Amino acid sequence: MAEGFSLTEMNRADPTNLTDMMRKHTPVIEAPDQVKTGEPFAVALKVGGIEGVNHPNLLGHWINWVDLYAGDRLLARTELAPVASQPEATLHIALEQPATLRAVAYCNLHGVWESTKAVAVK
Ligand SMILES: [Fe+2]
Repeated sequence: MAEGFSLTEMNRADPTNLTDMMRKHTPVIEAPDQVKTGEPFAVALKVGGIEGVNHPNLLGHWINWVDLYAGDRLLARTELAPVASQPEATLHIALEQPATLRAVAYCNLHGVWESTKAVAVK
């Protein structure tokens, strides 16, 4: 990771040493900490923008897609175009059991970036 990212391996933010590369590429998952079994809830995915460091959204350099998983199960892929808005998507899902939500975002120049959030189910 000479330049602070890998094109061939999953990139993850190091909260103890957050770089601008991490701030602009790491997906942020906004979801409740706990949900009711089978009841739909919103999951907002925002790529980058951490501490105000936004990812470029330009022809030639943009977030191409962001996937949402529950554990290893793919729930959705959102394809994004290089337009003058931030790479964001809101999905509505339901869980039958506790899960670690995983968001995986792809930048055409800087590879794949993952973050996770645990959601409890009662
Ligand atoms: Fe990038």
